[in-house]
Amino acid sequence: MNEENNVFPTEFKIRQYDRAKLLEQQPLLIWFTGLSGSGKSTLANATEFALHQKGLKTYLLDGDNLRSGLNKGLGFSSEDRIENLRRVGEVSKLMLDAGLIVIAAFISPFRKEREMIKELVGKENFIEIHVSCPLEVCEKRDTKGLYQKARKGIIKDFTGIDSPYEAPIEADLKVDTDSKTVEECINNIVSAIGKRCQSY
Ligand code: PPS
Repeated sequence: MNEENNVFPTEFKIRQYDRAKLLEQQPLLIWFTGLSGSGKSTLANATEFALHQKGLKTYLLDGDNLRSGLNKGLGFSSEDRIENLRRVGEVSKLMLDAGLIVIAAFISPFRKEREMIKELVGKENFIEIHVSCPLEVCEKRDTKGLYQKARKGIIKDFTGIDSPYEAPIEADLKVDTDSKTVEECINNIVSAIGKRCQSY
């Protein structure tokens, strides 16, 4: 494909369609975006549990987890976040190619990168869920003590404090974790996924 850098990807005999057919499911990337402490991991975890209970083959990718392995060494400058999300996009694409339903929970603060991932995997395979919660509430929850550190200047480039978060303009679904229970949010999420994929 690219003679310039002497790289020629091979077309394999078995394709996404064949793998997904064996797994009897439609691959999908369910993308959770939101501030730190908004509830992304909790909802992503519960969404995977609900889909798994239905017999669907899933895999959950989560910011803190990937940053402990594949993305170890990347920080929180704009450049590093962009690289973090580029890799997550590529890994998600491979997992979709394997026929899986991928659930991803990343702050993913920039619209451009979320759009890039949507384009990369194909918009028909992508659902964006905005985990919405006011900054003051996330800061009050401060489950990891990170907001306190950011306010004291111990952590730099903290999302919402001294690093921007661009909320989705037209997410497929917005869940308000400030006013709704986890159960209510999960019901809305599972129903939105079901509308997209009738067989789920
Ligand atoms: S990003 O912006 O999408 O690349 O971030 P992500 O990979 O999702 O990682 C977010 C988690 O990293 C921890 N953490 C920070 N978050 C934001 N800003 C700064 N500076 C930072 N430093 C560490 C934090 O635990 C985030 O997890 P969540 O679940 O969002 O709280």
